[in-house]
Amino acid sequence: MPQLPVILAFESSCDDTGVSVIQGNKVLANTVANQAVHEKFGGVVPELASRAHVQNIVPALDSALQESGIDVEAIDAVAYTLGPGLMGSLHVGSAFAKSWAWSHSIPMIPVNHMQAHILAHFLAPGPYPTFPFLCLTVSGGHTQLVHVNSVLDMKVLGTTRDDAAGEAFDKVAKLMGLPYPGGPVLDRMAAEGDAAAFAFSKPNVAGLDMSFSGLKTQIWQFLQRATQEDSTFIARHQNDIAASVQKTILDVLIEKLEAAAVQTGIKRIAIAGGVSANSGLRARLAAKQESDQWEVFIPPLSYCTDNAAMVAMAGSLMLEAGSAGKLSDEPQPRWTL
Ligand code: KG4
Ligand code: ZN
Repeated sequence: MPQLPVILAFESSCDDTGVSVIQGNKVLANTVANQAVHEKFGGVVPELASRAHVQNIVPALDSALQESGIDVEAIDAVAYTLGPGLMGSLHVGSAFAKSWAWSHSIPMIPVNHMQAHILAHFLAPGPYPTFPFLCLTVSGGHTQLVHVNSVLDMKVLGTTRDDAAGEAFDKVAKLMGLPYPGGPVLDRMAAEGDAAAFAFSKPNVAGLDMSFSGLKTQIWQFLQRATQEDSTFIARHQNDIAASVQKTILDVLIEKLEAAAVQTGIKRIAIAGGVSANSGLRARLAAKQESDQWEVFIPPLSYCTDNAAMVAMAGSLMLEAGSAGKLSDEPQPRWTL
């Protein structure tokens, strides 16, 4: 029986330095070095992210190789994120990955980060969605509703016109004086709050596109007014504010998923990206399994947030399909699906 291909992968599109080794679709190592340096700025600072990738990438590689137990000679190809993402961050990961592959005389496979988020669904142990399915990819940088026809045939049905869903969580948390990233903090607070306490109007965008920047402005104005009257307002109502904001964001995501399911006739729904960790979103999707017979796919948390195992999976599937890159491939900060 032929050995399943071993892929070494690098992810450096934003502020996480990820290195992974997979064999077939089994993850042997998935190292992620998070960059705490951005916390005090309340958001990712691109220049600092690039520098931290330079510092993190060799230790992350060493630790992934050691954890995998794989002999370097057994690696069949190197996959890496070519885009979309921050130019400086992409440069560090792609230059390193291509050099590593070149010096070991093995194929280098450039991967689209958004495609990798979706293909994370094919990492073991599953369950794996069958084609076609819809994937809502929601992270700090992206919000996309994608029709996935096959491994390499994906069509974006709708996207945000401004802020990403994760960015909306992060910006509202910042307005409330909460630490970065704000999504997980708001999620925890929302679980203790009343989602009907405050009513925010949903952005009205036709079709399957979305918008979140107006919501942030609306909440900023609401908090300005409320704190002018009572400076302790946020501290006294933070769980209710979090629950009400989260409900408004999730209403938009679920409404667009419902519309896409009706439009395409597809009820297999997958989610991907950092916001798919949100417990409210997971609960709303679980309810749709019952009410609308959706078949819902949610990868384990470590494959939802930025990681290199998903890049390895995408690389492995691309290698199988006969695709490989070259040393001259340049980072693509705005690469669309
Ligand atoms: O995919 P990811 O790790 O990185 C990007 O590519 O952006 O996503 C990070 C985003 C951040 O905006 C973070 O606030 C959000 O995912 N996030 C959450 C939760 N966990 C992470 N948002 C809402 N609820 C969560 N539990
Ligand atoms: Zn991502």
